[in-house]
Amino acid sequence: MIKAILGLIGLAFAAILLVLFAVSRIENRQARLLEKTIPYSSPNPESASATAVVYFSRSGNTALAARHVAQRLGSPLIAIEAPDYELGLSGLTNALKDAHALKATAESLPDIEPSNVDLTAFSTVWLGSPVWLYSPAPPLWAFVENNRFDGQHVVLFNTFNSHVGDDHVAAFKAKVMARGAKSFEHRGVLRGRMTQQLTPEQMLEKIDAEWFRKDQ
Ligand SMILES: Cc1cc2nc3c(=O)[nH]c(=O)nc-3n(C[C@H](O)[C@H](O)[C@H](O)COP(=O)(O)O)c2cc1C
Repeated sequence: MIKAILGLIGLAFAAILLVLFAVSRIENRQARLLEKTIPYSSPNPESASATAVVYFSRSGNTALAARHVAQRLGSPLIAIEAPDYELGLSGLTNALKDAHALKATAESLPDIEPSNVDLTAFSTVWLGSPVWLYSPAPPLWAFVENNRFDGQHVVLFNTFNSHVGDDHVAAFKAKVMARGAKSFEHRGVLRGRMTQQLTPEQMLEKIDAEWFRKDQ
């Protein structure tokens, strides 16, 4: 009996490892492909933009969305790096482990680079990240914790596979408002589950159609 239970536990463990390994391979492939899609060119320094785009991305999808948004708006683009969540099995398990735990207290938020950015020149700040366990990923929470948005309009944008939790978005909004923002909105692009996802081109078309509708 004990042998059978141990066997079952072993099997379950192997299955989890296999899934994590498969997800990690897909993420690596996506990241390599997305890196080459839509190079971003810095805006002309003479044409000062009122908008900045700041993002965290692990496997490149939010990065692509951010480059596209920045290109459309002629905005500077700031990438947040979070060494704990680099591509690979260890980054993936850290991401799953930390998705909620690290938001509990400000001190426990992950290390990010850059941590603090002078955003005072901008009236609108777009903040982008993937969704991890229904919530914007911890590095973006860390960015909000470390910066102020006094009098600014903040647009949270997310790429995700299936579902974002409204309660997490509401908590994120509360944190942004507590850091001085005057208004907040949320944009998301649903990419679909792993075997049936939008192509990068389809994702960008969806962003154009849904985030930049004429009536918005
Ligand atoms: C640890 C982890 C947890 C995730 N949790 C969710 C989730 O709760 N809901 C969802 O729709 N997608 C979830 N995803 C999928 C990502 O949000 C989605 O693939 C996103 O586009 C990845 O963005 P990136 O390539 O910029 O990192 C999760 C991905 C990871 C790595």
